[in-house]
Amino acid sequence: MSIVNALEITREAAKGGYAVGAFNITSINQMEGVVEAAVEKKAPLIIQVSVAPSKFLKPEVIVAVYHTLASQAPIPICLHLDHCTEVDYCKHLDDVGYTNLMIDASKQVFEENIRQTKEVVDYCHAHSDASVEGELGTVSGVEDQVRVSEDEAALCNPEQAVLFVEQTGVDIFAPGIGTAHGVYKTKNPKVDFDRMAKINHMLNADRINTPLVVHGGTGLSDEYVKRLLEAGGAKFNVSTELKYTLIDTTYNYISEKRDEYNPGKVDIAVRDAIRKVVGRWIDVLGSAGKA
Ligand code: 13P
Repeated sequence: MSIVNALEITREAAKGGYAVGAFNITSINQMEGVVEAAVEKKAPLIIQVSVAPSKFLKPEVIVAVYHTLASQAPIPICLHLDHCTEVDYCKHLDDVGYTNLMIDASKQVFEENIRQTKEVVDYCHAHSDASVEGELGTVSGVEDQVRVSEDEAALCNPEQAVLFVEQTGVDIFAPGIGTAHGVYKTKNPKVDFDRMAKINHMLNADRINTPLVVHGGTGLSDEYVKRLLEAGGAKFNVSTELKYTLIDTTYNYISEKRDEYNPGKVDIAVRDAIRKVVGRWIDVLGSAGKA
C-alpha cells in the first residue's frame, strides 16, 4: 500500500499502545518472508538492513525489491538502515531511497553524538521524507559493525535524552536501557523499565513527539515485551532470531534431504520459517490488524 518512514507508523503505535516490529534481513528471501508475515497479520512493518548486508546485497537492489513488495502489499512498510556509524553512508542511503536512517554515534562523547546525529537529521529532512533514529547510551553485544562489551554498555541519562532530542531534532529515539544484541546469557536480563518509562514521560507526556525504540528483541520474554510496550516502546528490533532461523532451517533441510539438490525448496523452507517467527512477534507486539 505505501512506502512510509518510521516516524509515521511508530507515532500511531505509541498512541495505540503497541509496537511496530522492525526485522533485520540479510537476504532477499528473508525480506519476502518478513513482508508475507506482516501482510498476513495486516501489520505495519519496518524492514531493517544493517550496513554490511546493505553493502553486499547492494542498496539499489534492496530499494528496488522494497518498492516492488511495498507496491503489492496492503500495509505501510518502512525500509530502515540499522546502526550506521558513518554519517556519509546514512546520507547516501537516504539518497538511494531508505526511509529511516539510524545514525549510531552512541559510542562517541555526548556532544559528538549530537553533532553527527544532527548532521544526518538536517540532511535527510532537507532531501527526502525519511525519518532518522538516534541512540544515546549503548546496547551491548554485536550488531553488524557495532560491537559493545558489557563493561562499555551505558544506560541513557533521561535529562541528557531530552537535550539530545531537542538539539538533534531526531525523529525516533533509542535509549540504552539494558537490553542487548544477540542471545541473552540469562532468562532475566537486567532491563531498566523505569528508566524507559521516565524517558518516555519526559519526551512524550503531552503528545507523542519522539517515539521510542527497543533494541535487542531476540530472547526477551513476552512478559518483558509487555512491560517495554507499557513503558513506551513503539519500534521493536529483532535481528538474531531471524539469522538463527535462516541458518538452522537451511542446515536442517539439507541434513534431512542431502540428495535433493533443489535450492528453491530450501528457500521456501526458510521463507516459511521466517514468516512464522515474524508472525509470532507481530502478535506479541500487538501490531496485528493495525495496518
Ligand atoms: P537482536 O539481535 O538481539 O534481536 O537485536 C536486534 C537489534 O536491536 C537490531 O538493531
